Amino acid sequence: MVSDREGREFDRKLEEMGIRIKDEDSRKVRGEVFDEDTLLALYRLVHRKKISAIGGSISTGKEANVFLGEKDGKPVAIKIYRMRTANFKAMADYIIGDPRFAGVRKTRKDIVFTWTKKEFANLKRAHEAGVPVPEPYAFDRNILIMEFIGEDESAAPQIRNVELEDPEGVYGAVVGEIKKLFQDARLVHGDLSEFNILWHEKPYIIDMGQAVTREHPNAGTFLIRDIRNINRFFSSFCPVEAEDALVREVTGGSVRSLAEKDR
Ligand SMILES: Nc1ncnc2c1ncn2[C@@H]1O[C@H](COP(=O)(O)OP(=O)(O)OP(=O)(O)O)[C@@H](O)[C@H]1O
Ligand SMILES: [Mg+2]
Repeated sequence: MVSDREGREFDRKLEEMGIRIKDEDSRKVRGEVFDEDTLLALYRLVHRKKISAIGGSISTGKEANVFLGEKDGKPVAIKIYRMRTANFKAMADYIIGDPRFAGVRKTRKDIVFTWTKKEFANLKRAHEAGVPVPEPYAFDRNILIMEFIGEDESAAPQIRNVELEDPEGVYGAVVGEIKKLFQDARLVHGDLSEFNILWHEKPYIIDMGQAVTREHPNAGTFLIRDIRNINRFFSSFCPVEAEDALVREVTGGSVRSLAEKDR
């Protein structure tokens, strides 16, 4: 933990760099996340005019912190992978099977930076395929800037915290997005659950650092797990389709043999 004094010291550094601070209360969180490298990356993003201010903390996760930020007076989300506590062994396992990132060195820094770049690339691919994800705007080292999903300054809730009016319709929409992700973006999310879907008039899929291409050796296993998670969540609210039928629907049959093996 950083002390209040360290937090203040830290905010002073940010302000010296021309980074405007919008939320006094997040001082301690900021102090914890921004080591010198991260600070420098943030500074570059400000100078590239990708952000103009940093605001309150939206979330402190296992590997990353998410802050509200501002660009041209409009909110953006700033996701920062922590260098110290990052679960980089698991990250390395995902990166190594991905042909897009062949040849990455395995130091902690390289893995975390590649992970951030991979989340940017995954979000971009998904966005271009028309899957509702936050549009990615920029990245630098361990920092990703993306579209803020929410209203004014309050972030959209995770779907698990929303009382859905039409759960069956939302279930259908989520299945449709998994299919679009697989068929058009040619990606498998790999960590899909009620924690990584936000609700803002419709479901938005987030947190795509671990998403893999269809060629990845674990793509089939991840897809089945994603589908299983979604079925488990929605089965409390509405009827759901059988898992193997869904896998067939999403893939057009291409990982059916894997699905059968897995049962
Ligand atoms: N673009 C966004 N707009 C609004 N809120 C967001 C956005 N991205 C993330 N959030 C909020 O931050 C939370 C954490 O984000 P995300 O799931 O991407 O990271 P994480 O779960 O902490 O990742 P990891 O487990 O890899 O550390 C989300 O559940 C959501 O509440
Ligand atoms: Mg998450």
